[in-house]
Amino acid sequence: MQRPPCTTTTSIHIRPSKRPAMPLSSSPSLALALLALVTLTGVLPLASSSRGHGVAATTNGVPPLEKHELLMLERFHGWMAEHGRSYATAEEKLRRFEIYRRNVEFIEAANRDGRLTYTLGENAFTDLTHEEFLATHTNRAPRPEEEDEEPEEETVITTRAGHVSEGPYLPAVDKVPDRVNWTAEGKVTEVKNQRHCGSCWAFAAVAVIESAYAIAKRVQPPVLSEQELIDCDSYDSGCSSGLSWSAMKWVKKHGGIALDSQYPYKQRKDACQEKKRLPHAVSVRDFEFVKKKSEEELMKAVARRPVAVGFDSNDNCFRHYTHGVYNSMCIKNGELVGPACSGNNLTHDMAIVGYVGKGNDKGKYWIAKNSWGKGWGQKGYVWLKKDVADPEGLCGIVATRPSYPIV
Ligand SMILES: *[C@@H]1O[C@H](CO)[C@@H](O)[C@H](O)[C@H]1NC(C)=O
Ligand SMILES: *[C@@H]1O[C@H](CO)[C@@H](O)[C@H](O)[C@H]1NC(C)=O
Repeated sequence: MQRPPCTTTTSIHIRPSKRPAMPLSSSPSLALALLALVTLTGVLPLASSSRGHGVAATTNGVPPLEKHELLMLERFHGWMAEHGRSYATAEEKLRRFEIYRRNVEFIEAANRDGRLTYTLGENAFTDLTHEEFLATHTNRAPRPEEEDEEPEEETVITTRAGHVSEGPYLPAVDKVPDRVNWTAEGKVTEVKNQRHCGSCWAFAAVAVIESAYAIAKRVQPPVLSEQELIDCDSYDSGCSSGLSWSAMKWVKKHGGIALDSQYPYKQRKDACQEKKRLPHAVSVRDFEFVKKKSEEELMKAVARRPVAVGFDSNDNCFRHYTHGVYNSMCIKNGELVGPACSGNNLTHDMAIVGYVGKGNDKGKYWIAKNSWGKGWGQKGYVWLKKDVADPEGLCGIVATRPSYPIV
């Protein structure tokens, strides 16, 4: 049942603190002071004028400062303020500045190249190296085949028959709409943020339970508790790893799941607090799987309600994604490379909450709700290329069986 943990939104080493160790400022005087320090300690090749970006004042033996470095530093300070980031020491800040600068250069080079179908930009990850970003993936082992782990009687591997109680949104089986957007229908809760906890499995499971309930009962989606799953779901491993379908199985067997307001998110695993679990806000009658390696079957399922999928989020371009249709191609050192992900590295889970473009080759994509906060991607969502040549789907979204609950 073990699998690699989810991609989290911060590295182990970086935690925003309430009291900044260094003042946040974009004033030129601090920038100059810092740059002077940087230059004197030789951390950055600031004095190299070979790039010809213009040279700032050179006085009192301080080496010339390139204007673009100053601008970059101001930009970094703006980014720090926006993300509430601060660093314990000046050395750490300089190190982070250098990483930030390299990421910004990577992002801008990829966008300038013009061959990507999507756009990259700054977000909460821009001061992390790719290795740091991946550092929370401590277990690199391939995800196990799920056939052996399948729960017995509750498994129904089909999306053929609709459930009578599921409401008016359900299309007839062979008549699937060209586009579906459960967010537009008001059936998806606000995007959440797992932060430093490998709990994507819980977020994806909760997202599909929230939506299934809202669709079946024709109400607004309730905001349910990921923390209850992290603390109490013994089938899964809290902030280390888990599977969305086994989380649904746990909810089914344990009476239901509480509201987030009853059992709020703490981004770490604690002892299960039985009192907070009650009353159950939503109970799950059952859960089902979509046939794997079939985007067609996934589409039929998503037409009825959001569905949880596994995903390989290892591509360096993916963490910088801001908008457009992500197609797993990336620009590295001026080359268009990819696919930079596969069905063998499913380190993340997301909820597919819609799709666009049946019969339209240019614009076919899945709408995925991620759990990296509203500041990532398109207000927390990502568009994933649909109907790709790989039978496992883009980055493995149908490599293992997608799952959804029946409430
Ligand atoms: C889905 O609906 C939401 C809410 O109306 C909207 O913001 C978003 O752009 C829609 N997505 C697509 C792909 O149409
Ligand atoms: C899985 O991801 C890691 C890190 O990005 C990469 O080195 C490895 O080649 C990938 N494995 C497969 C099978 O794609």
